[in-house]
Amino acid sequence: MTKKIILVGLIGLLLVLSIAPTSISAAGSGSEPTLRSLAEDKGITIGSAVATWPLLNDPTYADTLAREFNILTPENMMKFSFIHPSQDEYDFTYADAIVDFAEENGMEVRGHCLVWYKQLPSWLTDGNWSRDELIAILRDHIYTVVGHYKGRVKYWDVVNEAITGNGKYVESIWYNIIGPEYIEMAFRWAHEADPDALLFYNDFYAEGLNKKSDAIYNGIKYLKKYRSVPIHGIGLQMHANLDLHPFLDEMNAEVTANMQRLAKLGLEIHITEMDVCIAGDVTQEKLDQQADIYRSIIDTCLSIDACKFIVMWGFTDLYSYWNDNPSIGAAFIFDESYQAKPAYDAIVEFLTPEPEPEPEPVEPPTQPQRPWWWWFFRW
Ligand code: XIL
Repeated sequence: MTKKIILVGLIGLLLVLSIAPTSISAAGSGSEPTLRSLAEDKGITIGSAVATWPLLNDPTYADTLAREFNILTPENMMKFSFIHPSQDEYDFTYADAIVDFAEENGMEVRGHCLVWYKQLPSWLTDGNWSRDELIAILRDHIYTVVGHYKGRVKYWDVVNEAITGNGKYVESIWYNIIGPEYIEMAFRWAHEADPDALLFYNDFYAEGLNKKSDAIYNGIKYLKKYRSVPIHGIGLQMHANLDLHPFLDEMNAEVTANMQRLAKLGLEIHITEMDVCIAGDVTQEKLDQQADIYRSIIDTCLSIDACKFIVMWGFTDLYSYWNDNPSIGAAFIFDESYQAKPAYDAIVEFLTPEPEPEPEPVEPPTQPQRPWWWWFFRW
């Protein structure tokens, strides 16, 4: 009797074991590929800007980030006014939260940004600084911020948006008081503070060929070649919308040409703030157009060896800096309920490897036809 029970028990156990593993793996494996998994298979880095409030308060925001991306850029928290709110005070609280989150999830960080003419604290803009005083402030800022993240933030946008559409210097506090040398100084100090970090110049509407991108190209060439300034890469922001984007057919060749000349200077090219705004009502047609633009930006970048980093300036329409403007928005690849939009599907499709071709069926060697008696005489 006991033997019977044991036998029935064993059969039962075997049955359970043979069914259980399949049902567990189907439920728990997350079998759908993500942007992150597809990018990692291709050796690409794909990321998003991060806002602190949703990161700390909306679990879906944090989960989606960790699932879909392998690099993050703090959207605001490393900017001068947040990280250096008074002359003798640095506040790393929120920027640290983002860097911690990135590290916990095996992601890299793009530091953004050390020198810009916007988002400056009033103690800085209202001070009547001499040139030497402002140089000392900038040096202290760069040493302190880059030093704080030494070994943790691998890429820095050192100088942001320093050139106008006409290819002139932006008349910022830095340019007006220090002179154009502030750019060279900033790169050198950042390099001294973390010699392993890769240092970028970052700007918008400099993707194609125009006065601005010419000035940036010539400026970086001069700084690298004749001044040996440690500049390792260029950030092309890639803010776009359905009517104005660098990937209208006639401009696509220009973007490729611009990327090629920048790559020849030995620069890494990062797409740093990609988004594609939709004006007015959001229709299926516009969402499809948006998807085409996202896909072609990525296609163009990946056609250049030096371009393997693609960062979007957000990922859900729920939290978007475009939300301040009521006539434009819906710029990202997930909607306000974290549902994937056609742009997401287009990128996934684009990154999904072609299936291996079916191997040609090998014909089994055919037995020669033998008369029935052959089998008999064979013995
Ligand atoms: C924007 C942020 O997204 C906003 O939240 C903030 O109010 C203003 O700055 N180019 C840049 C980014 O380099 O730092 C800007 O970010 C967008 C344009």
